[in-house]
Amino acid sequence: MTTSQEMLARRLKLPNTNSPLTIPQIHLGLYMLPPRQTAATVTAALSAGYRGFDSAQWYNNEREAGGAIKAYLSSHPSLSRSDVFYTTKLRDNSTSYEGVRVSVAKSIDACELGYVDLFLLHSPLGGQEARLTSYRALSSFLPSGQIRALGVSNFGVRHLDELVSFIDSHNNSTPPPEFPLPLPSVNQIEIHPFNTQLPIRAACERHGLLLEAYAPLARGMRFGHPVLKEVSARYKCTEAQVLVRWSIQHGFVTLPKSARTERLVANADVGGFEISDEDMKRLDGLDEGLVTDWDPTDAP
Ligand SMILES: NC(=O)c1ccc[n+]([C@@H]2O[C@H](COP(=O)([O-])OP(=O)(O)OC[C@H]3O[C@@H](n4cnc5c(N)ncnc54)[C@H](OP(=O)(O)O)[C@@H]3O)[C@@H](O)[C@H]2O)c1
Repeated sequence: MTTSQEMLARRLKLPNTNSPLTIPQIHLGLYMLPPRQTAATVTAALSAGYRGFDSAQWYNNEREAGGAIKAYLSSHPSLSRSDVFYTTKLRDNSTSYEGVRVSVAKSIDACELGYVDLFLLHSPLGGQEARLTSYRALSSFLPSGQIRALGVSNFGVRHLDELVSFIDSHNNSTPPPEFPLPLPSVNQIEIHPFNTQLPIRAACERHGLLLEAYAPLARGMRFGHPVLKEVSARYKCTEAQVLVRWSIQHGFVTLPKSARTERLVANADVGGFEISDEDMKRLDGLDEGLVTDWDPTDAP
């Protein structure tokens, strides 16, 4: 049997990076975690074995999340900075290259971790010029190592195609660019059985991006659904565990959020069973395009 600690130690290769980076397959999502609760929750998660944390400028808890990670690392000398993977996201895309650089630098400073493992554009909002300028500004932190990998979030197929073609023409321009742009490593989007996002998943596969599944528990909105109930009874686990396991078996990095220690421990305790192909297909079949929060994947 695989323990929750072993599940939390699982890492996937992060594509499109210069050095061979890996990313924990289960992260703790930090959305809607109030700043005053963040340090205690992140510390409890680290003690339970979580090594990946998903923050954002928007969540207003970068300082608290980074501070808790830093404190935990200094009180656990057997761990080093590279054992923990910290993600944050740019809230507002902008056509001001310098403006984005200032905003990104603030996030890097706020977490006090020396570097950010993965920095994402939180959404495609703001229009084409703002998206591409912001991506270029993010990438300017790669040579110094202050950011290790880049990604996007809530990008639809059109935004992905646009970015990949921009990167291609930037890298092949004459005279050669000051620094080449990497392809994004990930696209973080809402994915769970009630919103399976097949077209965006296909585009990510085509461009070689890893998928990060946000709201993997569908925010609890479909707990009690007859199929979920029946599958969880058969595998003798909770409905939340079925959803996390479904995400993992699809090969996503999954980001379940809980502020409660017993839940965040249980949500990662998904190594003791494997969902059969038949049940995976039944779960896949629950797609209803459920949006739990927002969906800017069609933004102009
Ligand atoms: N890029 C984006 O635009 C975007 C958007 C949304 C989310 N995200 C990321 O994805 C993460 C997860 O998404 P999410 O927080 O929206 O939704 P989620 O992880 O699907 O669900 C979280 C909700 O489920 C509850 N919960 C957790 N475990 C449970 C359990 N075992 N039984 C019953 N209820 C449980 C939590 O409450 P308690 O805390 O009280 O346990 C919370 O209300 C976020 O935290 C964030 O990091 C990114």
